[in-house]
Amino acid sequence: MNMDAGKTLEGVGKVGFVGAGNMAQAIGGALLRTGLLKASNIYVSSPSNTNKGPWIQFGTHTTTENGCVVENSDVIFLAMKPIYLDAALMDIKNTLKQPVSNKLFVSLLAGVPLKVLEEKIHRIVPGARVIRVMPNTPVLVGAGCSVFSCGTTATKKDAEIVKMMLSTGGICQEISESLIDAAGGLSGCGPAYVYLIIEALSDGAVKMGVPRAMATQFASQTVLGAAKMVLETGKHPGQLKDEVCSPGGTTICGIHALEKGGVRSTLMEAVEAATKRAAELGKNK
Ligand SMILES: NC(=O)c1ccc[n+]([C@@H]2O[C@H](COP(=O)([O-])OP(=O)(O)OC[C@H]3O[C@@H](n4cnc5c(N)ncnc54)[C@H](OP(=O)(O)O)[C@@H]3O)[C@@H](O)[C@H]2O)c1
Repeated sequence: MNMDAGKTLEGVGKVGFVGAGNMAQAIGGALLRTGLLKASNIYVSSPSNTNKGPWIQFGTHTTTENGCVVENSDVIFLAMKPIYLDAALMDIKNTLKQPVSNKLFVSLLAGVPLKVLEEKIHRIVPGARVIRVMPNTPVLVGAGCSVFSCGTTATKKDAEIVKMMLSTGGICQEISESLIDAAGGLSGCGPAYVYLIIEALSDGAVKMGVPRAMATQFASQTVLGAAKMVLETGKHPGQLKDEVCSPGGTTICGIHALEKGGVRSTLMEAVEAATKRAAELGKNK
């Protein structure tokens, strides 16, 4: 790795990703696309080359040594699955060439509480500040929804830096840690729920004779349009729904079919199940 690249943006400095997969690529891609960081100021580690291709194409530094990323970065995203947290921290410990200080760790790990993160990270990097983020993959296309909570020693400036970085990929808001698993059960997992809904809407149109590609495009644009209507008009979704249901019309017949299928209850249960699973994952740490 070339370790002598200079800082580009005051306050952010150099950024590292321990873990090179989907979520790291979404955030790294947003930072690069918006020009907040230069590729030469991003350091990425993962045990294999499976996910390194896009990073090499971006022009970032890549390595298999997590310690190398920590040494060279001011802000370090932990972007491995929660079950690999201990292994990743052990690798940081084993590959650090010298003691480090003044580091901000940003965890993307679902379910792992700040208390656990701080305890484990401080064993390897004493005094590190920690922020816990729950992002989602639409960060990749600038339409993400990220929330975060600050650890005990994270500063106001740290919070501003994280908010600035995550805002390159959509909206980003600080929330109480007590809400982060539930927010993740909605926005972190939500893209998958909506993909399933888009696929099902497309299936319905195909069943009624619409060609697949056209059906999927129309379903996606319809979901995008409805979401924009809620965000941009500020109207309650129930009011917007009422506005498109003419008495005796087609839409109310479709709504009736959805209610018979328990769509509201099923979506509520999805968020509840994902929230509970995040808490379970955190307990296992
Ligand atoms: N995906 C989402 O929608 C989403 C949303 C919110 C939060 N998150 C959180 O984001 C984190 C990453 O999820 P993901 O979907 O990006 O996973 P992923 O695509 O499977 O990527 C995980 C990365 O971690 C690397 N890794 C595994 N063990 C490691 C170790 N010991 N040291 C360093 N790196 C290691 C993997 O290396 P290899 O490349 O060598 O396999 C891979 O690059 C998870 O904790 C998840 O809870 C994800």
